[in-house]
Amino acid sequence: MPQPLPISDQARRAAGQAIGFLMQQAVENADCLSLAAGLVDEQSLPAELAHRTLADLLQDPRKGRQRLQYGTTQGPEPLRRIFRSYLAELEQVDDQLKSLPLSRIILTTGSQQLLTLIVRALFNPGDICLVAAPTYFVFLGVLQAAAARIIPVQSDDQGMQPEALQLALRQLHDSGDLHRVRLVYVVSDFENPSGVSVAPERRPQLLETVQQYSAISRILLLEDAAYRELHFDIPARRSIWSLDQNGHQNVILAQTFSKSFSPGVRVGLGVLPEDLIQPVTDLKGNDDFGSPHLNQHLIARTLQDGTYQQHVAQVRQSYQSKRDAMLAAIDREFADLPQVSWFRPHGGMYVWMKLPAHISTGFDSELFRRATQVEKVMYVPGELCYPPDWEAAPGCEMRLSYGVLSEQQLDEGICRLARAVRSLLLP
Ligand SMILES: Cc1ncc(COP(=O)(O)O)c(C=O)c1O
Repeated sequence: MPQPLPISDQARRAAGQAIGFLMQQAVENADCLSLAAGLVDEQSLPAELAHRTLADLLQDPRKGRQRLQYGTTQGPEPLRRIFRSYLAELEQVDDQLKSLPLSRIILTTGSQQLLTLIVRALFNPGDICLVAAPTYFVFLGVLQAAAARIIPVQSDDQGMQPEALQLALRQLHDSGDLHRVRLVYVVSDFENPSGVSVAPERRPQLLETVQQYSAISRILLLEDAAYRELHFDIPARRSIWSLDQNGHQNVILAQTFSKSFSPGVRVGLGVLPEDLIQPVTDLKGNDDFGSPHLNQHLIARTLQDGTYQQHVAQVRQSYQSKRDAMLAAIDREFADLPQVSWFRPHGGMYVWMKLPAHISTGFDSELFRRATQVEKVMYVPGELCYPPDWEAAPGCEMRLSYGVLSEQQLDEGICRLARAVRSLLLP
C-alpha cells in the first residue's frame, strides 16, 4: 500500500460538497425522472445555429486559424467591445456603454470560473460573505473551499431584504468584524434555487447599504445575473450593477451564456471594479491564460448578427411553456395538501416548494427515499441551498427544475412527487 497522499487543506475543504452528492445521487438514481438536474432544455440548444456560425467563422482559412489559436487571458479586446454593446442592450442604454473601459471586462469559462476567481482574489480563511437564504449551492461550495465564513441574510419573495442586510452589517460592525466582510452575493433575477428576483425598489436599497458600510471598510456586491435573460411574463430589469453610478466600484456583474445559449460553449462574462480586474486576471493567467477563444467568437458573432437575440426569444418561450406545465401539475396535485406552498417564478428554471416543517426533504429523509426508490422521481433537497452550519436552515424545502424534462414528463414527475409527499402527509 502506498503512503497516504497528503491532500491540501483547500482540497479537503472542497470534499463533501452539495454538487458532488447531487451528481452521485443522479448516477445512483438514473431510472428516476429528474426534477433535480439543473441542466438546460436539450431541445432548445442551438445546434443548427452553432453549426452555421462555426462554419462561417472557419470558412476563411487565415481567419479560421486565428480563431483556433489561443486568445488572451482577459479575452481579445475586439470581442470585449462586442460584449460591451450586448451589456448596453441588456441595460437598455443606447450609448453602447462607451464610458465603461474595455479593461474592466473579462471573459471566463462560464460564470462559475468568474465566481471562483473572485473568491480566490478576495478571501483569506475566515473572511466573510453574506448570502441570500436560500442561495446557489455551488457558490456555497466555493466559499467553503476558501474557508470563508458564510452569513445568511433573510430573503422573501422580493429577494434579499435590505433591512436584514443592514442589520447583519451593523452587527458585524458592532462586533468589530466588518473589516472581514468581502462580498454580499446576490442572484438578482430568478434565483437558483428559489426562482425569486430582487424587486426593483430593493435594488438601490441593497446597493446603498453596501455603499454605506463600504465607506468604512470596502465591501463588494457580487451580482450573479445568470438567469436574467430568461424572463417570461415580466419585462427585463436593469441590473444592480447599472445603479452603481460611482464608476461601478461597488458591484461586480457576473453574466453567462450557458442558460441562454449553451453550457457546452461555456462563455461567461464579468465586469469588475478597477482594482479587482488585475488580481482576477493574474489568477486566471495561472489557471488557463484565457478561455476557449473559438467559443467566444461563436457567441460574439451571433450577438453581432442578431441570431443570438432571436434564439433567446425562442428559449424564453420554451421555458415559459415548461414552467406553465409544471405549475399546472403542481396546482392540480398539491392544492389540497395543508401547509404546502410554492413560488410561481416569472423566469429562470426552478420552482421552490415548501412542505410542512416536520417533513424532512434531505438525502437521508424518508421522503427522498420514497421519491427515488418507490416513485422514481428526484428533486434537490432545499437544505443544500443554505450555509452548511446554519442551524436555523429549514429542512422541508425542495428545488424542482423544469429545465430538462419535456412537458409530459414534468406532469408525470409532479404526479410521482405528489404521491410520495401524500404518503407521508396523509398516511
Ligand atoms: C446562479 C448561477 N450562477 C452561476 C452558474 C454557473 O453557470 P456557468 O458557469 O455555466 O455560467 C449557475 C449554473 O447553474 C447558476 O445557477
